[in-house]
Amino acid sequence: MKKILVTGGLGFIGSHTVVELQNEGFDVVVIDDLSNAEAGVVDGIAAITGKKPEFEKIDLRDKAAVQQFFKKYPDVSGVIHFAASKAVGESVENPLLYYENNIGSLVYLLQELNKKPEAQFIFSSSCTVYGQAEKMPISEDTPVQPAMSPYGNTKQVGEEIIQDVAKATSINAILLRYFNPVGAHESANIGELPLGVPQNLVPFITQTAIGMREQLSVFGDDYNTPDGTCIRDYIHVVDLAKAHVTALQRLINKANAEKVEVFNLGTGKGSSVLEVIHAFEKATGQKLNYKIVPKRPGDVTEAYADTTKANNVLGWKAELSLEDALASAWKWEQKVRGKE
Ligand code: UD1
Repeated sequence: MKKILVTGGLGFIGSHTVVELQNEGFDVVVIDDLSNAEAGVVDGIAAITGKKPEFEKIDLRDKAAVQQFFKKYPDVSGVIHFAASKAVGESVENPLLYYENNIGSLVYLLQELNKKPEAQFIFSSSCTVYGQAEKMPISEDTPVQPAMSPYGNTKQVGEEIIQDVAKATSINAILLRYFNPVGAHESANIGELPLGVPQNLVPFITQTAIGMREQLSVFGDDYNTPDGTCIRDYIHVVDLAKAHVTALQRLINKANAEKVEVFNLGTGKGSSVLEVIHAFEKATGQKLNYKIVPKRPGDVTEAYADTTKANNVLGWKAELSLEDALASAWKWEQKVRGKE
């Protein structure tokens, strides 16, 4: 069976993708620098699939270490590249870290893949590239907007680098633009483990419900939306993980129509912050303490996906509901805090 490298494979989306790859019979080797993940995640993965993925602790900014890795694993035929820094605020404060970590490592990986007769590359991108789109839902033809942060810029520049490299080499690639990944594996063996105070909505909700945080702040209720709070497309991380396997198989089977294809990955359904809160309360029976506070700078009013291309061309569709995602995130939070 083919051997696939998953960079950032112990992180939130990466670990769920490793599970789905193993479920489909792929051999997986993970690279992670453990900057935002714990080594024990390999055991969580093994508890689900019955197989520990191979794991190498490597910082992808270390070019020599990346070269060494590919010498040690010459049979790696494809890469799913998640490893990156992803905090918007931190990227504004420390842009050089973001450019080195997110761009430098991408270049080193592509240099090694370029030594192979053919290779598949799946890139973890974000709907952040669309900024505040003029029209909803957001299709892949929606114009990309200038990035609002160095983090967002690393995703745009990363996509451009891959486009240029694919034109000149035998590398084929798929760029996956995620909407808002949430939830956890239903077994609660793996899930999201944010470092410090969570910046994202759902981990903040589950940490508030379990008593780690006093109160959830809802950032603004005077947006131009039905209830005044921002609208996002929350996609279950297990559905998202499966999309990566489908995309990889598409490249392996040479079913791709272009050397680089782009797909939006979402459910197609927008939910407001208040709707998420109420869905959480309904799915878990927990009452959530929240208050409305001023807007967070940089938030767009709404973003949800047009899923037509992912459904019809990639042949993938989100199956799980927001309630499923929130219930699984809650189960995971309880397990992590030892309250189950
Ligand atoms: C954020 C990033 C995005 C990145 C993604 C990665 C920003 C502006 N955007 O997306 O670039 O790709 O994370 O995970 O940081 N909210 C609250 N209270 C909270 C937290 C969030 O009301 O404590 C609201 C936000 O205003 C937003 C929604 O919940 O409307 C979702 O927020 P979040 O989970 O941070 O995701 P994005 O901002 O969509």
